[in-house]
Amino acid sequence: MQQRKLGNNGPLTSALGLGCMGMSEFYGDSDDSASLHTLARAVERGVSLFDTADTYGFGRNETLLGRFIAEGGAARRERMVLATKFGIVRAEGQYERRIDNSPAYIRSACEASLRRLGVEKIDLYYCHRRDPGVPIEDVVSTLAELVREGKIGAIGLSEVSEQTLRRAHAVHPIAAVQSEFSLWSREPERGMLAACSELGTAFVAYSPLGRAFLTGTLNMEQLADNDFRRNNPRFQGEAGQSNRQLVDTLAQFAAARSASSAQIALAWLLNKFPHVIPIPGTRRVAYLESNVAAAEIRLGADELAQLDGLFDPQRVAGARYPDAGFVGMETR
Ligand SMILES: NC(=O)c1ccc[n+]([C@@H]2O[C@H](COP(=O)([O-])OP(=O)(O)OC[C@H]3O[C@@H](n4cnc5c(N)ncnc54)[C@H](OP(=O)(O)O)[C@@H]3O)[C@@H](O)[C@H]2O)c1
Repeated sequence: MQQRKLGNNGPLTSALGLGCMGMSEFYGDSDDSASLHTLARAVERGVSLFDTADTYGFGRNETLLGRFIAEGGAARRERMVLATKFGIVRAEGQYERRIDNSPAYIRSACEASLRRLGVEKIDLYYCHRRDPGVPIEDVVSTLAELVREGKIGAIGLSEVSEQTLRRAHAVHPIAAVQSEFSLWSREPERGMLAACSELGTAFVAYSPLGRAFLTGTLNMEQLADNDFRRNNPRFQGEAGQSNRQLVDTLAQFAAARSASSAQIALAWLLNKFPHVIPIPGTRRVAYLESNVAAAEIRLGADELAQLDGLFDPQRVAGARYPDAGFVGMETR
C-alpha cells in the first residue's frame, strides 16, 4: 500500500484508511465478530489509518476498536494510526446533537476516548464539529496542551472552513482536515484542498463512496429502519432518481476499466490529489479487499476530467445531510 503523510510533521499512513463508523451505527445493525475480522484483514493488507469518533454508537465504536487493539497487543497497536474525534453531544439513540468545544469538555472527552480505546495516546485527535461559542484558538490551545502531555499525537479538524483552518494552524500545526469528499460531494475543491496543500495539512476524505450510493449496489428498499440513509435528501425521491443516473454512467465507465464503481470513486480521489487520504467504511472483508486494490488503479488526466464532468456539482441533486446534520459544520 502506498503511504501518505498526515501533515508535515505527522506520521505516515496508508494512502487509504478504514472508516469504522458503520461497524457501530448509521448503516443498520452490525455483527462485531464480522467487524473484528474486517479490521484484522485491514491490518494484514497494510491499512494503517483507522477512523472512529466518540459519538459513533455512543462510545461503542471506540470500545470495539479498543477490543481489537487489546486482542492484538502491542504488535498490532504499532501498525495502527488511531484517529478519533470529540465535540458532538447526543442522547443515546438520538441523531439530533449539540456541540461542545469547551476546554473542560475536550479534556474529559479525551480521557473517555483513551479509556474506551485502551491506549495511552490517540495518534490523531479531531475536533468533530465547531462550537461557535469557543474561539478556534482556544480549542487548539487545549489540544496543544494534550499534545505536550503525550495524550494525543496530532491535531485534526473536521468540516471546518478554510479561515478556521488558517487561524488554527497559526496556533499549532494542523495535521489533517477531515470533511466529506467524493465524486458527488465536491465542496473541498472550492479552496480547502489548496489551503491544505499550502499548509502541509493532509486532507482526509470521509464518505468517499457516497455512503455506498456511488457503488451502485445500494438498494433503498432493503435498508434497515434505523439506516441513516433513509433520511438523507440525496438518496430520496426525485433527487435519488436523478443521482442514480450519474451512478449508472459511472458503472459504465468502471466496466470499461474492468473495475468496480467503488474502485473508480476511490481511484479518482487518490489519482487527482496527492495529499488526500480516503477512508472508505466497510464491515466486510470482500469490500475491504476490493477497496485496497483500488489504490493500484491509475487514471489519466483525460479520465479524471471525464469523471469531474460527469459529477459536476450542478448535476448532483439534494443536500448531503438532513438539516439536523449541519449543526456545527462550517462547510455547507
Ligand atoms: N468527520 C465526519 O463528520 C464523518 C462523517 C461520516 C463519516 N466519517 C468517517 O468516514 C468513514 C467512511 O464514511 P462512510 O462509512 O460514511 O461512507 P463510505 O465510506 O462512503 O461508504 C460506506 C458504505 O459503503 C459500503 N461499501 C464499502 N465498500 C464497498 C464496496 N467496495 N462495494 C460496495 N459497497 C461498499 C459499506 O457497506 P458495509 O458497511 O455493509 O460494508 C457502507 O454501506 C466512516 O466510517 C467514518 O469513520 C466521518
